Amino acid sequence: MRDYTRAVEFGDILSRRRSVRAYERGDVPRQVLERITNAAVVRAPSAGFSQGLRLVVVTDGETRRQIAAAAAEEELVRQGRPRWKADAPVHVVVLVAESDYHARYQEADKLRITGGRELEWPAPYWYVDAGAAMMLLMLAAIDEGLAAAVFGVTDVPKLRDAIGAPEDLHFVAVVTVGYPAQGSPAVRGARMFDERRKPRAEVVHWERWGEAQGANGGGARARPARSGRAHRR
Ligand SMILES: Cc1cc2nc3c(=O)[nH]c(=O)nc-3n(C[C@H](O)[C@H](O)[C@H](O)COP(=O)(O)O)c2cc1C
Repeated sequence: MRDYTRAVEFGDILSRRRSVRAYERGDVPRQVLERITNAAVVRAPSAGFSQGLRLVVVTDGETRRQIAAAAAEEELVRQGRPRWKADAPVHVVVLVAESDYHARYQEADKLRITGGRELEWPAPYWYVDAGAAMMLLMLAAIDEGLAAAVFGVTDVPKLRDAIGAPEDLHFVAVVTVGYPAQGSPAVRGARMFDERRKPRAEVVHWERWGEAQGANGGGARARPARSGRAHRR
């Protein structure tokens, strides 16, 4: 497994993190896929170390077509979107076992701090953890010279059938992975600003809600809008 503790050139990896939806044809080596899934499994935090994450790595073409169908790709193509999902060489289906969290938070050490009852979940930690793991998987993919994007499905039962996922696992998202196609946005890097990016002051508050700058003047100002995206995702 690659040693991610050195965090070499993290800024470069971060600057290349954007959704890339076009890939070179050809396989991604198994060892590479093991490294990027390991990054998600080993390096992601999980609430109470519940480890509810489950991944299904799909390279089989027919299964990828079924997953793409569960996301209504043909309909999107008819609407003028480029074909992307079925053509991506690898799908990593992200699932989560909510039951692992309930089991963990019923253990004695947790119950001692929650008054003997299971935590009133301030957020569904199973989805929180899945998102964090998904992000690490994408960053690890970039570190391997790959690019990635995320999609959801419109037909979860179809997705379940395609990969044989048990009913008790929640579906979270599919991450597509592949070597970026020549001329794809992977090479140009991430968009820091465009007209649809919310102003920083709306998103980041300093010291208290509503403070865009903070007492010591901290906080980034939103840059003026520039022309950008053609359609919503
Ligand atoms: C949970 C989740 C689901 C998404 N689903 C889709 C999708 O179905 N189709 C798509 O094209 N992009 C999808 N995206 C990608 C977003 O549209 C994308 O991240 C956003 O537009 C910002 O662009 P960027 O990733 O290039 O920074 C999804 C992203 C997330 C996190």
